[in-house]
Amino acid sequence: MKIAILTGGGDAPGLNPVIRSVVKVAKENKIEMIGIKKGWAGLIELDHFPLKWEDVKNLHSEGGTFLLSSRTNPIKMENGIKRVSDNLNQVADGLIAMGGEDTLGVANELYKNGVNVVGVPKTIDNDLFSTDYTIGFDTAINITVSAIDRIRTTGKSHERFMVVEVMGRHAGWLAVHSGLASGADLILYPEEKYDVQEICEKIKKLKHEGQKSGIIVIAEGAKEKEGSHTTQNKELDAFGHVKLGGVGEKLSKVIEKNTGIETRHIVLGHLVRGGTPSAFDRVYGARLGYGAIKLVLGKKWGQMLTLRGTEIRSMSLEEGVKELKTVTNDYRDLIRQLT
Ligand code: F6P
Repeated sequence: MKIAILTGGGDAPGLNPVIRSVVKVAKENKIEMIGIKKGWAGLIELDHFPLKWEDVKNLHSEGGTFLLSSRTNPIKMENGIKRVSDNLNQVADGLIAMGGEDTLGVANELYKNGVNVVGVPKTIDNDLFSTDYTIGFDTAINITVSAIDRIRTTGKSHERFMVVEVMGRHAGWLAVHSGLASGADLILYPEEKYDVQEICEKIKKLKHEGQKSGIIVIAEGAKEKEGSHTTQNKELDAFGHVKLGGVGEKLSKVIEKNTGIETRHIVLGHLVRGGTPSAFDRVYGARLGYGAIKLVLGKKWGQMLTLRGTEIRSMSLEEGVKELKTVTNDYRDLIRQLT
């Protein structure tokens, strides 16, 4: 059997450990692996190569994706799905697609068009409803937290409030987890609109009580009451997503103006998507790789892997990409109590 593998969408630390595990388990089971370069773009142009254990055996600690990635969307291209499926048929009997809602949405469309495909959940946003964790999220939180620990000390030295903008698109998981882990004074995220006046009052109160510096974590997708997203420009990507960014800078200027307290902002952005994966993401990656080959061997096409509690399970791609996982009420209550 020949199986192709690709990674699509934004990269995430932990993808390489999945690739490594897939290739090794495939080898043990006499499956030939074909690497597809740059996500769906590699199946549009048929950019592929034989994937050997020797190529990937040192990938356990490497960030990024050895297979490269892109945000190419075949659904938006003329005959895109047919081209992908014809090209895949030339080189393999099935496909392992690793990605978030966009990539797995395409995988589901392919499955509905008769393609043998299984999915692996990946994104630092952790916004896939089907799984408790997506690969890359744990590393991204840890990097964010260690960055905030550093930002805190310089904020303290200068008696400033520091606004830290983090990625996450329309879900606040990255902001919520990193904000809680780093003891942030305020955590602002898309699921709970914020009021600038309330924020300024809270900061003035903290200052009045003797706190001279502090941390505000804000998700790139956070919105003011009555307001909308802050975007970098008007462009949309191939999946129709806006390019979020700039909300932290906007907020820090308003805080400084309204409170008179010196405030700075920093955008962590892609920094937390790069570098070595955490031990959790390496082990999780190994488990996902093994799980993906088990799905292939069982011919469980149209399924994707999920993590529920500590168990790796699977569910249909159709179910798995149906809705986004957003910050739940228990976290929202907790944040109200702690900030
Ligand atoms: O989906 C992952 C993500 O990192 C989002 O958090 C962010 O909005 C987006 O990708 C950034 O995309 P790009 O790497 O194309 O700038």
